[in-house]
Amino acid sequence: MLAIIGGSGLTKLSTLELVRREVVRTPYGEPSGALMFGKLCGTQDVVFLARHGYGHTIPPHQVNYLANIWALKQAGVSEILSVASVGGIRADLGPGKLVVPDQIIDYTWGRPSTYFEGDDQVVHHIDFTHPYDEALRQRILAAAKAVSEEVVDGGVYAATQGPRLETAAEINRLERDGADVVGMTGMPEAVLAREQDLPYAAINVVANYAAGRASSEHGIAFDEIEVVLQGAMARVRTILECYCEC
Ligand code: HPA
Repeated sequence: MLAIIGGSGLTKLSTLELVRREVVRTPYGEPSGALMFGKLCGTQDVVFLARHGYGHTIPPHQVNYLANIWALKQAGVSEILSVASVGGIRADLGPGKLVVPDQIIDYTWGRPSTYFEGDDQVVHHIDFTHPYDEALRQRILAAAKAVSEEVVDGGVYAATQGPRLETAAEINRLERDGADVVGMTGMPEAVLAREQDLPYAAINVVANYAAGRASSEHGIAFDEIEVVLQGAMARVRTILECYCEC
């Protein structure tokens, strides 16, 4: 069963034929919302979870990532596809672009970010050289190709703490570090999925140019973001449908 974690702009999966919803409690507290079980394309079992809650009320630094991944694991999912909006740092990654990243740099702090914690736990170092599952990445790319949606193959995702956006100098620093896009939710979600042995990959939707870049030089236009996200998320849905069917 495939899990889809939807971010800003994707709090509902309109193409999902809902079968049941389940409120799950975990040893780590409550997930962002009920798990929505259903079918995509009439055949593929899917569970959907809105990362920020169904009313979009949970900010990135307060998402209970431990509970979310745990709940999906308990539900029996075999892979997780994350959909998350980002700011574009690289010049060619303007609003509306879709990116399937292949690397992460983590700038978040103070977020619970491991299941291997507690007096009874042995120290555990997981391999995170390649944070995204390559087979899953390739399937997303193939699905996008099959429906003729342009996606960028690879990119370095910088995970920032939020909820504020970055300064122009911070974006310059991220670029010097090698980051291509910036978002606030990619970590610790990706590493927790790895700790739970769940293949994880992401589709990043560029909502805006990052601070100080191109059209954002005079500040980021929030009304434009909304329009861009709506259009781009419709394209993500098309890719997801083919991901299940193709
Ligand atoms: N910065 C961080 N996270 C984001 C951005 C951004 O510019 N846009 C969408 N998510």
